[in-house]
Amino acid sequence: MKTILEILNDKMEAAFTEAGYDKKYGLVRISNRQDLCEFQCSGAMPAAKEYKTAPIKIAGKIVEILSEDKDFSEVSAVMPGFINLRVDSGMLAGLVCQMRREDKFGLNSPDRVMTIIVDYGGANVAKALHVGHLRPAIIGESIKRISRFMGHKVIGDVHLGDWGLQIGLIITELRRRQPELPYFIEGYSGEFPAEPPFTISDLEELYPFASARSKEDEDYKKEAQEATAELQSGNPAYKAIWQHIVNVSVADLKSNYNKLNVEFDLWKKESDAEPYIPDMVKYLKENGYAVVSDGALVVDISEDGDKKELPPCLIVKSNGATLYATTDLATIVERMKLFHPDLMIYITDKRQELHFTQVFRTARKSKLIHEDTECLFIGHGTMNGKDGKPFKTRDGGLLRLETLIEQINGEVYRKMKIRDFTEEEGKRIAEQVGLAAIKYGDLSNQPAKDYVFDLERFASFEGNTGPYLLYTVVRIKSLLNKYRASGGVPDGEMALQPPQDKSEREIYLMLLRFTEVIETAFTEKAPNRICVFMYELADAFNRFYHDHSILGERDEKKKISYLGLIQIIKDVLETCLDLLGLEVPGKM
Ligand code: ARG
Repeated sequence: MKTILEILNDKMEAAFTEAGYDKKYGLVRISNRQDLCEFQCSGAMPAAKEYKTAPIKIAGKIVEILSEDKDFSEVSAVMPGFINLRVDSGMLAGLVCQMRREDKFGLNSPDRVMTIIVDYGGANVAKALHVGHLRPAIIGESIKRISRFMGHKVIGDVHLGDWGLQIGLIITELRRRQPELPYFIEGYSGEFPAEPPFTISDLEELYPFASARSKEDEDYKKEAQEATAELQSGNPAYKAIWQHIVNVSVADLKSNYNKLNVEFDLWKKESDAEPYIPDMVKYLKENGYAVVSDGALVVDISEDGDKKELPPCLIVKSNGATLYATTDLATIVERMKLFHPDLMIYITDKRQELHFTQVFRTARKSKLIHEDTECLFIGHGTMNGKDGKPFKTRDGGLLRLETLIEQINGEVYRKMKIRDFTEEEGKRIAEQVGLAAIKYGDLSNQPAKDYVFDLERFASFEGNTGPYLLYTVVRIKSLLNKYRASGGVPDGEMALQPPQDKSEREIYLMLLRFTEVIETAFTEKAPNRICVFMYELADAFNRFYHDHSILGERDEKKKISYLGLIQIIKDVLETCLDLLGLEVPGKM
């Protein structure tokens, strides 16, 4: 469906052409002074230069032509040559009706459907999810949903970290504590146990313990590094331990991501790229992309125009070990082979920017990707505490994600005013509202910006918050339910009347921006665009609600129109919330 802006543009361009000017001057924008006009064209000013005449004369001519068009309620030329527009209310109602009938509210299918891989979440096996994992999960989930809604083929991959030192550390610590386990018996040739030698809570104690110790004890660290190298070169006992770690962790991670309403299509791991490494390394060497430098294999990634010198991409260390970049490159090889992506999006902390620059440049230079395959890194900022420093527990440790979620749910539960539900129901609602508080608090910021996590503000039912938006939808639903209870049937057929007053008109204009908002959010990979739109729409609804007695309206046609309008507001808001990965509770 054409957007209102496109329709107005067409009309304006036609008017410029009819008046004898180039149509390129007929660009229409949404006015940022809605009190003066709704839409504006300022093309008469540059046109005046080309046609050597006064801008106001050109504007005057255009106004004369457009005044004939009944889709405009007001067309005027304003000094020095602006063309100000207001559109006819009937046109607004017609377009919103059309929007309501169309799939995805009239969002057009993309010209070219892309296969997009979104690599997000960033979890590592054997380690608990902590607040640092919140942002990549929330932002990635939203970008995945937006891309899919746009009509692309999208695959979300958690790409678990499972092939690094953390595994070696756990093996080392486990061996120290339980040397009698068959994994550590020299020459053991039987089957390894099917039951894991640890639970998830054991792992959560083992890993930080081993990690801390390795920082103080050089020998211990060496031992862990050796264990990692042995695992990577296929030691069956270590592989068996690794498999237990993966199984135990994945089950736990799934339940945690589930709580965040974050769903991955693929649960791939760094180690899945392992089989691709030998051939890839050979290819890079044989084609001269990778060279040996100080015993290590590296790819020079410098490019003309670089402002500063970028270090080469390290593929194999001098001791033969592969690195984070190696698995990422091999993962690209795997993805190209299995999924033929047109675009790969990676979401991690912005401190990983250099790593991804190295990986992307290497992949491009050495043709591991096609010429038109795009790679995009989205580096997110840090979630800070009120002291402006990265969010920590009171004693300075990493705050577990589960703990944070419990805290916010508790806060929301205390804030909930209506108590006409069972405790269990209330807890479930608090979970949905709590998640909205966290996710909206995050997504309403630009991904790259740091922000302060302010529990009280995020969980507030007023202002620009997730709970406020959910509450607005719940309020609309309850109005529709009341109407239903009085025998009415709210449906998509409720005829819309042309908007009569300011607050109603404002909503029509706002709804018509929906498709453009989604497209911008996709192009810029900026869920915050959707947040701004939702907040404005929710606010506009609440003003309208304040000014009108919807169910008490005596004029039946008007009442039906109001109900039709709030129904589409609800549908649009719910769609937007879904794009952020949020659900609306039945009541709150
Ligand atoms: N597991 C990594 C970390 O903790 C993030 C993974 C991001 N994705 C990737 N393909 N490198 O930093």
